[in-house]
Amino acid sequence: MESVSTVEAVRNRVQQWRAAGERVVFVPTMGNLHRGHLSLLQTAQQQGERVVVSIFVNPMQFGPNEDFAHYPRTPQQDATLLQGEGCSLLFIPEVGEIYPHGPDRSTQINVPELTDILCGAVRPGHFTGVATVVAKLLHIVMPDAAVFGEKDYQQLTIIRRMVTDLCINIKIIGAATVREVDGLAMSSRNQYLTPRERQTAPLLYQTLLDAQQRLRKPAASFAAVEEEALANLIVHGFQPDYFSIREAVRLSVPVPADRELVVLAAARLGRARLIDNLRLQR
Ligand code: PAF
Repeated sequence: MESVSTVEAVRNRVQQWRAAGERVVFVPTMGNLHRGHLSLLQTAQQQGERVVVSIFVNPMQFGPNEDFAHYPRTPQQDATLLQGEGCSLLFIPEVGEIYPHGPDRSTQINVPELTDILCGAVRPGHFTGVATVVAKLLHIVMPDAAVFGEKDYQQLTIIRRMVTDLCINIKIIGAATVREVDGLAMSSRNQYLTPRERQTAPLLYQTLLDAQQRLRKPAASFAAVEEEALANLIVHGFQPDYFSIREAVRLSVPVPADRELVVLAAARLGRARLIDNLRLQR
């Protein structure tokens, strides 16, 4: 595996592969890789001959009081892991390589309707930061396809919409959420949980499963399902940001009949902010 830190080096290598007729698939990450990331890599390998992974903790997507400074950074460990997982090229740039004018003075990408709801309502500016860095990374790597986890469902929805709106000719692939044996969705931020909180954390997924079960009944009241789920999370020590039933493609409410649903939840548990979701075809 080759490791590079400049835009020019990535472009040169990817151009060579594409000229040789090889399909290039990209997996953007913020590092501190776990089994969830490795499943993104496996999905990528099924889609093309060459897999490019980026590791970049993007300052633009963190709020002033968020964990940018403390976000876990383990580049050596990540590189060793990627080496054994079929990654052809690791792109690991410095902040100045991605934002030559600084993150605050860079051109930004805003995706209307989707960036200010759900997680965007409690993390102002977060999805503008995500959309901006993903657009830049896609333009740097110029892959045939890029893979994102379905765990970050709102992020994936925003990226799909941005790619459509900006006519970016790259296929966006969603990869299924990878869970611990007790159902907790894998995330680098799970390591913020204390042992006791870690025992409670799978209840978020359990609450989503319960909601999914109730929503299978045609007469189910969305408002009642949401309220009871929120109450259940609070009783168990979570501080929920939302528990919301939405239409699966646009994340809109109210949900028209016969449309696929997604149930999305975000809740704080101690220092960790957990997110998860489940889809439901009616
Ligand atoms: O999901 C992530 O790890 C990040 O939001 C992403 C897509 C790499 C952009 O920084």
